Amino acid sequence: MKFVAYPDRELLMLALADVIASELAETLNAQGRASFSVPGGTTPGPVFDILSGVGLDWANVAVFLNDERWVGEDSPRSNTRLLRERLLVDKAAAATLVPLYAEAAEPEAVLGALAEGIEPHLPISVLLLGMGTDMHTASLFPGADRLADALASNAPVLLPMRAEAAGEPRITLTAPVLAGAMHIHILITGAEKRAAIEAAAGLTALEAPVRVVLDNATVHWAE
Ligand code: 6PG
Repeated sequence: MKFVAYPDRELLMLALADVIASELAETLNAQGRASFSVPGGTTPGPVFDILSGVGLDWANVAVFLNDERWVGEDSPRSNTRLLRERLLVDKAAAATLVPLYAEAAEPEAVLGALAEGIEPHLPISVLLLGMGTDMHTASLFPGADRLADALASNAPVLLPMRAEAAGEPRITLTAPVLAGAMHIHILITGAEKRAAIEAAAGLTALEAPVRVVLDNATVHWAE
């Protein structure tokens, strides 16, 4: 892994948005289209705010989450809601949102249809991930019910995931999809997450699921 420490969070968010915008522009130039997969949670909002104002050929960018919590968009815990409010506004409103949620009591009921939506946009051009202090990334939580399935080299694109730490049921991109991305960035802040990602390097993917992308990722960190 490549580890980049920034003097403060503001500089981190600006520099990361700049790298992502360049990689998306480069992909758009070369291929005419690009895909961008992003985390939910509390950390990435400022990166979304900056990116949404960047002049890119957003109309040819497909945006989708790394994972979604099984709640409707009326819930403050909806990652889709975060995307609509913070990324898919201003210039980036022209991007296409590929959904990771559809109204259904359980993710299993709509898994196939959601996976079909994602497949044409693989491999992911630019992957931005978050990480929890328990070393989960996307919704690959240590101890989750389907973690081993999601880590398999022949895993399907999407899997439902349930874990005590996750709260509600989740749906997540799986290890081969994440690891197959062309550019991989992990955004973390604070001393606890820095220690966690350093510890992950010496653990297995079952113990520290972030391992599945770590070797080829750039980790962006500020206190
Ligand atoms: C989610 C995320 C998840 C997130 C980490 C870090 O839906 O919760 O996609 O993988 O990136 O939990 O979350 P924070 O940024 O809130 O610490």
